[in-house]
Amino acid sequence: MAVVLMVFSILLSFLFSFSLAFNVSSLSFDHAYSPLFGDGNLVRSPDGKTVRLLLDRYTGSGFISSDYYDHGFFSASIKLPSDYTAGIVVAFYTSNGDLFEKTHDELDFEFLGNVKGKPWRVQTNVYGNGSTSRGREERYLMWFNPAREFHQYSILWTPNNIIFYIDDIPIREVARSDAMEGDYPSKPMSLYATIWDASSWATSGGRYKVNYKHAPFVSEFTNLTLEGCSVDPIQQLPSATKCLGANVTNADYAAITSEGRLAMQKFRERYMTYSYCYDLRRYPVPPPECVIIPSEKQRFKDSGRRLKFGGSNRRHPKRRSRVQGVRNSGGQAAM
Ligand SMILES: *[C@@H]1O[C@H](CO)[C@@H](O)[C@H](O)[C@H]1NC(C)=O
Ligand SMILES: *[C@@H]1O[C@H](CO)[C@@H](O)[C@H](O)[C@H]1NC(C)=O
Ligand SMILES: *[C@@H]1O[C@H](CO)[C@@H](O)[C@H](O)[C@H]1NC(C)=O
Ligand SMILES: *[C@@H]1O[C@H](CO)[C@@H](O)[C@H](O)[C@H]1NC(C)=O
Repeated sequence: MAVVLMVFSILLSFLFSFSLAFNVSSLSFDHAYSPLFGDGNLVRSPDGKTVRLLLDRYTGSGFISSDYYDHGFFSASIKLPSDYTAGIVVAFYTSNGDLFEKTHDELDFEFLGNVKGKPWRVQTNVYGNGSTSRGREERYLMWFNPAREFHQYSILWTPNNIIFYIDDIPIREVARSDAMEGDYPSKPMSLYATIWDASSWATSGGRYKVNYKHAPFVSEFTNLTLEGCSVDPIQQLPSATKCLGANVTNADYAAITSEGRLAMQKFRERYMTYSYCYDLRRYPVPPPECVIIPSEKQRFKDSGRRLKFGGSNRRHPKRRSRVQGVRNSGGQAAM
């Protein structure tokens, strides 16, 4: 695996050598975020630009943006815990599940820990208007070790499209289609970052649990960026609207260039290990936003999974709470 990753990372560094540094500025923690849970395990740097989220045997931890955003660009440089990380999930996501229990919207990056020597995996997901029975998971390996250094992870959400980025590589785009109806997120969301114990499902379907001998598990967040307009999510009063940064609909990161599209295609060919669009057991008719690519379809053989890269083949149909008592989350439907 290590050799395979190294070869790919060399390939990708050629492929991704175009530079597309987004023109965004970061915000200090106190300016835009608040602790969510496990306050004692949330450690701020003196300049307020870096936050560590710890998981120990007593609690995980998390933070939330102080405002709700009516579309936006949400980004952070993240370094994940190293060594034995089985059972751990680090999540970076937008949601409004605290306000709309039955009809929430959500966009996820979920990092799934692994046993020593095996790579972290990342999952993205999209929910709209409480579509928790229609998970839209994709899973990938990364072309680098995300525990060794910081990498930038970004979620763009406009009225027209959703793009997930790792560094400046677009790894997934969901173009809004009318047929998605409410499944396309439409209500203001806040940004969340959390670390928590997901022993029951995160690693090989729950076979490997969090081992607190290796605690505390430390994830680090810096270069926190929010662009978009914050609104009152219930009243949506114009007077309460405050916009930060660019108009995300027109910003450089809202459209994928032809080089970006090529990089996305290469990334997905090499690193995507699961896609709901090809999981005919779950979706005999792929959901309307799916763009079926014949070579991908063949590789995934109708199961949605490409087992060559390892990973779990078990099903976990139950929804589980990411933060007990704080919110409910989907995101594990098929894993
Ligand atoms: C970056 O964004 C700022 C504020 O939106 C703008 O004033 C500046 O001109 C931009 N810089 C570049 C290089 O586009
Ligand atoms: C969201 O779901 C609610 C309840 O099922 C429904 O009344 C509403 O019309 C839906 N909204 C959209 C945008 O589909
Ligand atoms: C944070 O952003 C600055 C400015 O864009 C960049 O120079 C720096 O490398 C970033 N730091 C990390 C850890 O990503
Ligand atoms: C952002 O740009 C779009 C498209 O030009 C426009 O429709 C929208 O009103 C703008 N939003 C804001 C908050 O200025």
